[in-house]
Amino acid sequence: MSSAVSHGWEHVVVTGGAGFVGSHLCGALLDSGARVTCVDDLSTGRPENIAPLLDRPGFLLVQADVAEELPVRQPPDLVLHFASPASSADCRRLPLHTLQAGSLGTRNALELARSAGARFVLASASEVYGDPQKNPQDERYPGNVDPAGPLGVRAEAKRFAEALTTAYAESHGTDTCIVRLFHTYGPRMRGDDGRAVPTFVRRTLAGEPLTVTGDGRQTRSLCYADDIVAGVLAAAAHGLRGPVNIGCPDEICMLDLARLVVELTGSGSEIRFVERPPGDPAGRRPDITLARDKLGWEPRVGLEEGLRRTIAWFRAEADGAVLA
Ligand SMILES: NC(=O)c1ccc[n+]([C@@H]2O[C@H](COP(=O)([O-])OP(=O)(O)OC[C@H]3O[C@@H](n4cnc5c(N)ncnc54)[C@H](O)[C@@H]3O)[C@@H](O)[C@H]2O)c1
Repeated sequence: MSSAVSHGWEHVVVTGGAGFVGSHLCGALLDSGARVTCVDDLSTGRPENIAPLLDRPGFLLVQADVAEELPVRQPPDLVLHFASPASSADCRRLPLHTLQAGSLGTRNALELARSAGARFVLASASEVYGDPQKNPQDERYPGNVDPAGPLGVRAEAKRFAEALTTAYAESHGTDTCIVRLFHTYGPRMRGDDGRAVPTFVRRTLAGEPLTVTGDGRQTRSLCYADDIVAGVLAAAAHGLRGPVNIGCPDEICMLDLARLVVELTGSGSEIRFVERPPGDPAGRRPDITLARDKLGWEPRVGLEEGLRRTIAWFRAEADGAVLA
């Protein structure tokens, strides 16, 4: 993160702070002058993500499962609840863990915010819209989710977390905000997490063929990590309760994305087509009118630029360079 905008927070608890998005948030908050306690069980995150932060004044890592406990001694004035497996592959591998992070983990994070009188921000996800029959999706769209379907765990964990967050605001007066994040990409994604960008980049850099599911015409809206961090921090700073969509309103189909990655890496990787997994949504795209109007936020990093930065990071990682 390059920006060091002060948001005025003194002590922020970031659950899931050793993950892809969470580690960028921790860095941005430290840059802004806040103290940061990262609570993470390292189930899908990596110590390398926060290695550059460990020596920075004001940063503390607490290794714990948020579904069990949130052992934070100093009261925070902001809690960002990001702890949860996120990629489809991780959620399929860890279905109970995902549901517990969304239910018990959210309850524990909300309790921490309530007892400290802190603001609370829930990282929800576009998965709450399921396989949408409306495109783009605005925050009033209730979604099209099959709770027992292949992606039900991920969607229902977030839907329950949203309902609990709303109930805390209404029953306890907790100062809450729900951000619905759409697909995010950037440095520090795990090459094996199954998501399209890291998978395509890792394979092209290894000179392996890329696989595109179905006919490759299914679309995604991809937002660069720095933009997502700016959107989350804008929502935290604003009194908005949400839900508010944070994501990129432009779409790209998977086949075009694969071609673009091949072009930007300069690799000759071949593109192969494989069967599309069940439950894979045809497309998801945020309507970000609310974020634009209330937060003055919209993405700034274009797809090509974001992919170039991501590819550079993956190259450096493959060469064993220090992650930053
Ligand atoms: N990356 C995206 O495209 C995206 C999109 C929508 C929503 N989100 C949400 O943002 C959050 C972060 O996603 P990410 O992409 O950085 O995923 P990630 O897997 O890289 O990070 C999640 C972090 O949470 C930690 N964690 C998981 N369960 C935990 C538990 N029970 N206790 C403590 N720590 C736990 C993991 O170890 C990891 O460090 C998630 O809540 C995810 O649902 C992400």
